[in-house]
Amino acid sequence: MTAADFTVLPRHVAVIMDGNGRWAKKRGLSRSEGHIEGAKTFRKIGEYAGDLGIKHITFYAFSTENWSRPENEVNAIMRLFGDYLQEAMDRLDENREKGIRLRFLGDRSAIAPELAALMDTVETLTADMTKVNLNIAVNYGSQQEITHAVRSIAEDVRSGSLQPEDITPALIGSRLYTGDQPPVDLMIRPSGEQRISNFLLWQSAYAEFWYSDVLWPDFTERDFDEALRAYEKRNRRFGGI
Ligand code: FPP
Repeated sequence: MTAADFTVLPRHVAVIMDGNGRWAKKRGLSRSEGHIEGAKTFRKIGEYAGDLGIKHITFYAFSTENWSRPENEVNAIMRLFGDYLQEAMDRLDENREKGIRLRFLGDRSAIAPELAALMDTVETLTADMTKVNLNIAVNYGSQQEITHAVRSIAEDVRSGSLQPEDITPALIGSRLYTGDQPPVDLMIRPSGEQRISNFLLWQSAYAEFWYSDVLWPDFTERDFDEALRAYEKRNRRFGGI
């Protein structure tokens, strides 16, 4: 498919990459092997979305709650994320040619310092790219994100640089990790689960939701097309009639 095949494309797509563990279990593999396949699907769908002309896409890679998983699984996910960051550095010229800006949403204070430093570098080196904004949520939780934003606003009020009446939805939105990026239009969750799981709660206020039973490692470009096709047919009223 190309952008011309759709009458309307979402500006911002969010994806919950769910089902890696079940995919692995079905094959008698370890959960970490499921994440390895999931990381391949992430690359494939990220690239495809960019080729289609989706301007903003956000993938949920690791939640603030995922630390409670076995240590070897947490390490495996972090290693895959690290590999991707290294690859982003190695392919900087190629990514710049494609105009890909990489950003990471979440609390970096709990991330290993070498990884956090690499995240900062990749963000800085792609900050002037404007074609595709690819966000990866790592150690991300929406409630924590909103709390963080509210605290920063409260500090400004305490210091006197902001008045309580200056606090608007736009101001709160601007203090979230997504900053100036548009709200989510389409939220995709594969693997048969129909939950939001603390992901982009504020940003998804008017998002359309699309679910599929396909497990994330099996998710293909055709499944993504199907989600876009469903979105195209939705009648978005934003609370109006
Ligand atoms: C959810 O499936 C998936 C995760 C918690 C990890 C997602 C991580 C990746 C796809 C790889 C790393 C990311 C990058 C950006 C390279 P699950 O394990 O909860 O699956 P289950 O519900 O079937 O157990």
